[in-house]
Amino acid sequence: MIVTVTPNTCIDYTVFVDDWVVGKTLRANSVVQGIAGKPTDASYILGEMGIQSLALGFKAGTTGEAVEQFLAQKHVATDFITVGGQSRLNVVIHCENGGWETTVTTSTLVVSDEHVAALENRFREALTGASCIVLGGTLPQGVSPKFYTALIRYARRQGVPVIFDSSEPYLSAGLAGGPTYIKPNRDELSQCLGRPISSRSEAFRAGKELTERYGASAIITLGAEGALALLPEKSYFIPVLDVPVASTAGAGDAVLAGLAAAIDSGNPLEDGLRLGFAAAAAVVMMPGTAECRMEDIERLLPRVELRDYPPK
Ligand SMILES: Nc1ncnc2c1ncn2[C@@H]1O[C@H](COP(=O)(O)OP(=O)(O)OP(=O)(O)O)[C@@H](O)[C@H]1O
Ligand SMILES: [Mg+2]
Repeated sequence: MIVTVTPNTCIDYTVFVDDWVVGKTLRANSVVQGIAGKPTDASYILGEMGIQSLALGFKAGTTGEAVEQFLAQKHVATDFITVGGQSRLNVVIHCENGGWETTVTTSTLVVSDEHVAALENRFREALTGASCIVLGGTLPQGVSPKFYTALIRYARRQGVPVIFDSSEPYLSAGLAGGPTYIKPNRDELSQCLGRPISSRSEAFRAGKELTERYGASAIITLGAEGALALLPEKSYFIPVLDVPVASTAGAGDAVLAGLAAAIDSGNPLEDGLRLGFAAAAAVVMMPGTAECRMEDIERLLPRVELRDYPPK
């Protein structure tokens, strides 16, 4: 069973506007509310693929209930620790004419040391019988980034592969625990290494550096410029698929789902990359975060290309 762990659960409220005018009332063309949070997104996408997973983490309030309801729609098993406050409601602003998308995140979960201990215990229990762990996102206020170091180290000692996706300061803390795979986007990679990452070759060098330092294989996504996968034996460049873009939120999380699916079924990682990037393109086509349709994934799958990198 794939186990996903989302300490900072959330819902995305995506607002589509034509233009952004400061200080004015803007009329939205449409709005969509959906699941968000990297590992829960992966569970949701796995559910659409017909693959079972168990979602763990912290949840609270009506937003927390909404998270559970979205996951239930895709038959994801859930066992969240109930904490104080509210699961987050993030606002995604999608500006049609500007061609940009900005997310305003919040921090509304209230987590005590007892809650942290309860999630650690639930995580340890779930490792028995787990094929892999998908872990990441930010942490609720007051939870030390070292929480990620400890969880990852523990899973790896039990021989369970970990796919980890987060931003700073959590990414560095998680890397110290020795995850099997990381999936930074350009900004996350650049913040982790403290230097700008402009070109594909710079991203490749950065990924190599992280692999040498921490042993993790890096799948680096570069938005509309495709992705690099630095697997232990081989590296690939994966060009983007030409699809109509509705909203890119959650596209990276589809890559987590694809990798987890391959590990769970014992298939080559290359198959996981193909599935993940087909799902990423399917997510891009839909307005809701992490929303995608299996029929699109199946149609796009044969179009995903893994090109040797550096090119021969
Ligand atoms: N505009 C786009 N057109 C086509 N494909 C895209 C586009 N943006 C992203 N993708 C696909 O999705 C993959 C992941 O995207 P991205 O790098 O934006 O992930 P991310 O920043 O982790 O996203 P998120 O955190 O919202 O899930 C890309 O490597 C690419 O294959
Ligand atoms: Mg991401």
